[in-house]
Amino acid sequence: AVDISKLRDVTGAITFDPGYKNSGVCKSDITFLDGEEGILRYRGYAIEDLADKASFLEVSYLLIFGELPSAKTLEQFENDIRKYTLVNEEMKNIIDGFPKTAHPMGVLSALTSALTAFNPKSVNVENQSDLYEGVCKTIGKFLVIATWTYRKSMGYPLNYYDNTKGYVENFMNLMFSLPTGPYKINPIVVDALDKLFILHADHEQNCSTSTVRMVGSSHAGLFASISAGVSALWGPLHGGANQAVLEMLEEINKAGGDVDKFILKAKDKEDPFRLMGFGHRVYKNFDPRAKIIKKAADEVLSSLGVKDPLLDIAMKLEKAALEDEYFKSRSLYPNVDFYSGIIYRALGIPTDMFTVMFAIGRLPGWIAQWKEMRLNKEPIGRPRQVYTGSPLRDFVAADKR
Ligand code: ACO
Repeated sequence: AVDISKLRDVTGAITFDPGYKNSGVCKSDITFLDGEEGILRYRGYAIEDLADKASFLEVSYLLIFGELPSAKTLEQFENDIRKYTLVNEEMKNIIDGFPKTAHPMGVLSALTSALTAFNPKSVNVENQSDLYEGVCKTIGKFLVIATWTYRKSMGYPLNYYDNTKGYVENFMNLMFSLPTGPYKINPIVVDALDKLFILHADHEQNCSTSTVRMVGSSHAGLFASISAGVSALWGPLHGGANQAVLEMLEEINKAGGDVDKFILKAKDKEDPFRLMGFGHRVYKNFDPRAKIIKKAADEVLSSLGVKDPLLDIAMKLEKAALEDEYFKSRSLYPNVDFYSGIIYRALGIPTDMFTVMFAIGRLPGWIAQWKEMRLNKEPIGRPRQVYTGSPLRDFVAADKR
């Protein structure tokens, strides 16, 4: 609640809504979300249908250009993205300047911004071909530099995009192929990652998307706006939740793997501990994305046959919480981060790369929202405030203070 007595010098009527929880800041045709009913749709299409029947690049095209592409248009789009997957060699010098221990999201944000220096022509959003080229360039180069942040942290040589393979297969190759031999790609894994990227592709006006729109509203370029989105996503309150799931599983493992003990802890109102990956701020009955990805997680785990105590704990935790009255009565189901964390772990993706995975998925949403904001000719984002500082004071010279 606002303490009215502390408010001073308020000029005109101002809506006070910290975190914009109840403010619609734009009109948007892109994503529909109903948290009570557990509905998520991109451009009117149910997320269930898109995850089941479309590919990530198909969904990217839908989000950005508004319609599902024909088979021919999709093939052209994939080819055009391929054309831009070469990243300027001098970008490698920038990567070399980072310590190996740098967080990949910091490196990704810096590299995305640096793309402006090597691609200085700004994207004219009103010109169809200019816009299309900018979109393909961003999607092509972002994947490569995202994986380079991992290669750098491991001290591995940087890999290049393989034009004979699809976008998600390339992700696996770029990440894991070594000079000793190419990475063996498992189609079940590719399918699960494709779905995960689709599920993360847009979520209306979340923190990083609002950031992209806000930065873009000053007519800063596309790469600069996306770079700001990466920084916003980096925060633990936003993209970092799946990392928190893994950290919790590690904590349970270190404490002997007693899942019931941690369920009790989560129910204890005196204890601040919460089960990470359970519950959602917007989806109050179930997270539609979690339902889809749970199936993929089960398939990945049985196909890879990974033996990992953390994954065993995750499965036990899921079962125990789903059967527990406390969690059932509060509709606290595993959310998308719970299962995405499990899949990434099973694929051998290190925990601090989880948010980078999220960023790769969210990229088409950021681009679509940036484009919509510019085409709608939205004004520069400039919120007001409620001033709570001192009233007018007399200036006192330094020697008299
Ligand atoms: N573990 C134990 N109890 C929980 C949990 C949990 N994970 N989540 C909510 N509760 C309890 C609350 O204590 C509260 O209990 P009460 O009615 O007895 O007071 C009740 O469920 C309702 O919870 P709220 O706090 O009102 O739910 P809110 O909408 O504020 O929080 C949130 C949602 C932040 C996601 C919460 O469920 C949580 O902290 N989850 C764990 C963290 C997590 O997984 N975050 C990722 C979300 S997905 C994403 O951001 C992409």
